[in-house]
This record gives sequence, C-alpha cells and structure tokens, in this order.
Amino acid sequence: MKRQVKNNVYWLGKLDWELEEFHGSDYSINHGSSQNAYLILEDKKVLIDTVWRPHTNEFIDNLEKEIALKDIDYIIINHGEVDHSGCLPYLMSKIPNTPIYCSANAVKSIVGQYHHPEWNFNVVKTGDVLPISKDKSLVFVEMKMLHWPDSMATYLTGDNILFSMDAFGQYEAVAELFNDKADKCLLMEEALKYYANILSPFSPLVKKKLEEIKKLNLEIDIIAPSHGAIWRDNPMQIVDMYAKWCDNYKEDQITVVYDTMWEGTMKLAHALAEELKEQSPTTVVKLYNISKTNKNDIMTQVFKSKAIALGSPTVSKSILSSVGGWLHFLQELSLKGKKAAVFGCYGWSGEGNKVLREELTKAGFEVIDQEEKCSWNPREENFENMKNIAKELLK
Ligand code: FEO
Repeated sequence: MKRQVKNNVYWLGKLDWELEEFHGSDYSINHGSSQNAYLILEDKKVLIDTVWRPHTNEFIDNLEKEIALKDIDYIIINHGEVDHSGCLPYLMSKIPNTPIYCSANAVKSIVGQYHHPEWNFNVVKTGDVLPISKDKSLVFVEMKMLHWPDSMATYLTGDNILFSMDAFGQYEAVAELFNDKADKCLLMEEALKYYANILSPFSPLVKKKLEEIKKLNLEIDIIAPSHGAIWRDNPMQIVDMYAKWCDNYKEDQITVVYDTMWEGTMKLAHALAEELKEQSPTTVVKLYNISKTNKNDIMTQVFKSKAIALGSPTVSKSILSSVGGWLHFLQELSLKGKKAAVFGCYGWSGEGNKVLREELTKAGFEVIDQEEKCSWNPREENFENMKNIAKELLK
C-alpha cells in the first residue's frame, strides 16, 4: 500500500517484519526491516528502486494499484544490491524498454547479477539532472562505497527530498514510517548499528562524501533512505551523527569481551568490569560473552567505546575459535583511536595473550602493556591485577 511522503512522492516498499538477518547471516536484525521504494507521480512517472526478490508479487500488486506498469517513464536504481533491485527482472520482462538510470558501477552489478546487458541503461554521475516536470528535476549524486562502489543518491528539487539509499538508513521495520513518529532511541541505535557494522570500514570516504554533499548546497527537507524510517523531522540530525561517527568516534565507554572454557577467563572479565566501574563510576561499562551475544550487537558497543578488553583462554597454542572469528570481523571494520587490553587463563603453554595482542594490533587498536595471563584458575593476585589494567585503560 502506498503512503504519501510529500506532495506527489509516495513510499511503496515492503515492511519486512519477519527478516532476521542480512548479507547471508553476517548482519543480525532484531526488529524487522524494510525495503523502501518510492513512486513519484509528476508529469513523468518515476519508480525509485524496488524491493527484495521474494517480495516481488506483493510489490508489483501494490505498484499496479497506483499505476499501470507501461506508464512508468523512468526507473532509478540507486544501488544494485538484491534487496533493492530484486524486482527488476520481473519489471523488465513486462516493460522491457523502460530507461533505467543508475551509476556506471550499477550497470556492472545489475548485469552481473541478472545477466541482461540489453536493458535500457542510462549511466548518470554526480550533478546530472533529469527533469520530471516543469519545475522539478532529479539530481544524481554518486555515493561510492556507501556502501558499494555502485551506490548513488537521488535528490528531488522542489520537494527537497534526498533519496539516500542505504546511507542514513536503519535495519528496522518502522510502521510509523517517519522519524518523528518512531521510537527515537531505537532508531538512532539501529542507525548506529548499521554504521558500525557496514560503513565503518569506509569512514574516510564517508567524511569526504559528507563534505562534498555540503558543498552542493542542497536544501534538504526530507532524507528518504532505503531501510527504516524517513527523516522528515530535523533530517540533518542523522547527517550530523554520520559526521561524528566517521571521525574516530568514541564515548566514555569501555567494553569487556571474552569467551571462556571453564569459567576462569569469565571470572577475570567480571572482575575487570567491576574494577572499571569502581575506578570510574561515570564510565559506561559493558560486558559480553562472544558466544552468547550476536557479534553485530557487540560491535556496535565496541564502536562506541574508547577502549576494550578482550579475553580468551589459551587453546592449542592459540585462542578459542569464537574469539578468532570475532577478531577477523573486528579487523574488517578498521576502527581507529581505541585502546585495548588482553587477558586469559591457560593451563600449559599460555600463548593466548600473545595471539590476542597481535590480532588486536592488526585491527588498529593500541594494546596496553598491562595484561593478565592467569595460570589455571584465578587467585586473589590475578583479580588484584585487574586494578592495574583498569587504571591504564581509563587513562
Ligand atoms: Fe540495502 Fe546495500 O543494500
């Protein structure tokens, strides 16, 4: 069912209440999601993006209630990923000559996925303009690496709407559709989770892109992303948050992360969390067992932290595989300007801390010298040493 965004602009997407993961199983979804497509009914009838392929029938049914497919003048594809381009094969089988406006890289991604080089692609780049009525036009803005090389945003003059694609979105089903009606805390937390887990590797590019968009002097009344709520109340608040997040973001928070075999490393983790709180009551302290909490939710907290402490027992001259996999993901995120400490129990050889130290350094963390390498189960002196680690992390 379509819903009005502003004047002749309508949301026509899929509120995906059942969705639990994205990018295979690499991104967890806790509150559903949406794929937002938009229909502009000016002199020219424009469809901006579609939805994920499994929802094609529902999407096309809804679309045909608003417009005969043959009356669609232009299709804008801001990004070729399947959650937005998924209905193209069906649409193009019905209206094969309809022009598709997209970036040069999107032609590559769409042809690569659907194998139809004969579709009527029209490549656009930043600043290109497509008039759609006497006084309204679409202006294209390439958004390379936010988060794919093909990503693009489309700006509608007159209504001052920026269709920003994945950027500024949240993986959350927002029945209320607009940010002023939604749960504001959840909205910002989901926007942050998306940034931390998907966009943080590209933070230097995000920074440059935000500066470039600023220079375009676009008057923005609404930011309409491809997932989650549409920002119509103070839309620049999410741009301001992105400006902070892309610039080595950290809050007064320390996150303790660990896995454990026989609870020794767990006891050290708990002791460190207590010590951090004791020494700095105002610092937010979080603690997670890697095997029990979803990695994306932990990474969101790591992203907010000024420092982390990571614990694993030694296993076969290395660390637990849960911690190894988690560290691999951490390295992908390219976080900067954060401290780390390592700790863990061992029975025989005790290489765990060295491995943790090396992998955290590769992930871009400044690993402090103080550590806890605990033989068998922790004793009083091991817990006592947590005072030194906490003190150094809090410096
Ligand atoms: Fe929402 Fe990059 O797809």
